Amino acid sequence: MKKNLVSATVFFLILCAGPVFAANLTDTERLGKLVYESKLLSWNQTQSCATCHNNATGFADLNNATVSLGDDGVSTGGRNAPTSAYCGLSPVLHLDKAGEYVGGMFWDGRASGSRMHDPLAEQAQGPPLNPVEMNMPDVQTIIDRIARDSEISFLFTAVYGADAFTDVNNAFDNLARAVASYERSTEVSRFSSRFDAGSLNAQELRGKKLFSQNCTVCHSMARLGGGFPLFTSYKYVNAGVPKNPALEYDPNCAYRYPDLGLGGFIGDPAQNGKFKIPTLRNVALTAPYSHNGYFTTLKEMVSFMNNRSGFTPEVADNLSTAVGNLGLNDNQVEDVVAFLNSLTDM
Ligand code: HEC
Ligand code: HEC
Repeated sequence: MKKNLVSATVFFLILCAGPVFAANLTDTERLGKLVYESKLLSWNQTQSCATCHNNATGFADLNNATVSLGDDGVSTGGRNAPTSAYCGLSPVLHLDKAGEYVGGMFWDGRASGSRMHDPLAEQAQGPPLNPVEMNMPDVQTIIDRIARDSEISFLFTAVYGADAFTDVNNAFDNLARAVASYERSTEVSRFSSRFDAGSLNAQELRGKKLFSQNCTVCHSMARLGGGFPLFTSYKYVNAGVPKNPALEYDPNCAYRYPDLGLGGFIGDPAQNGKFKIPTLRNVALTAPYSHNGYFTTLKEMVSFMNNRSGFTPEVADNLSTAVGNLGLNDNQVEDVVAFLNSLTDM
């Protein structure tokens, strides 16, 4: 009896521990978190990774901006910030047996991962040096700043050795690896949604069934490597999303019409208009939607996936026919949206 009471109390305490598992982070993950949240990585020290990928908004833009504002306070990027969570299993960009591109990072796969054998780490080196994002002049300046921060440099040398700052390029790689390890940690990629807990209501269960019939060719629910579904196959598709006129004529915005996506990076017209299939975990928190943020609400986005008639695609080539004419009625679209809402981490 007493034993039961003790274990019940322990169980209750575990439940109350809530979503933040900070205590469980390894030194490398803690270092990554410090860097991820540090504004030292931006030239005017106005922003960190967490500004555009924040816990409060499913690790997407804290202000739910269509395109994120850069460190200079004027420039914006040309694409909507996706979540930085659940990206850690994306393989190095490669062609599969069917001749389709799989893996890499960013909407167009340009952080391919081939240099560091880790797309997520390679991605982390992009924003600090990007003029419309964190706007740092060079790698040396980034490492100098990090080395001068006592808390970060203490952990950095504890993890990577006393001479960790000597070779700047090596230090920059390790900095990126630490950030990636934090993004892969249980604090960021939590798998703690009601979907994971298996506690869906009747409407969400109807939505789940419709989702598996209509959406999983792209937003895969396969348990890759025995883990939980990530709702992406890491492939690239032209879903036919229209251009975003709100961005087209903004002189401070890096958006250039048409955005060719993977085709622009690879330089092969057969890939024009294709964008990475995004994970849908925490999607209820990450509005607006699609690579250019054209869709404001989840309902609008899912309605488009269901029926894209009346929309002019940004790129007309290579349109996928597996999406855009699914034949769901309005109630069924609502059910799918309800299901997507169950993918929010607790
Ligand atoms: C000013 C806003 C901004 C900042 C700061 C920023 N990002 Fe991003 N991030 C974006 C945008 C926008 C994209 C999509 C760009 C693209 O695909 O071309 C992106 C893409 C990503 C992706 C790719 C996700 C995927 O599924 O392909 C990851 C991961 C990521 N960022 C992590 C980070 C990290 C780590 C940092 C800090 C070192 C950071 N970001 C800083 C806006 C930002
Ligand atoms: C043929 C592949 C394919 C199918 C089928 C598909 N999607 Fe997608 N989905 C994509 C691609 C690619 C994008 C990104 C498109 C872009 O930004 O240009 C996307 C984007 C989304 C987004 C926006 C996510 C974000 O973070 O911006 C949602 C939500 C979504 N899909 C839900 C669904 C639902 C629900 C279904 C089934 C009713 C579905 N999709 C079917 C490929 C597909």
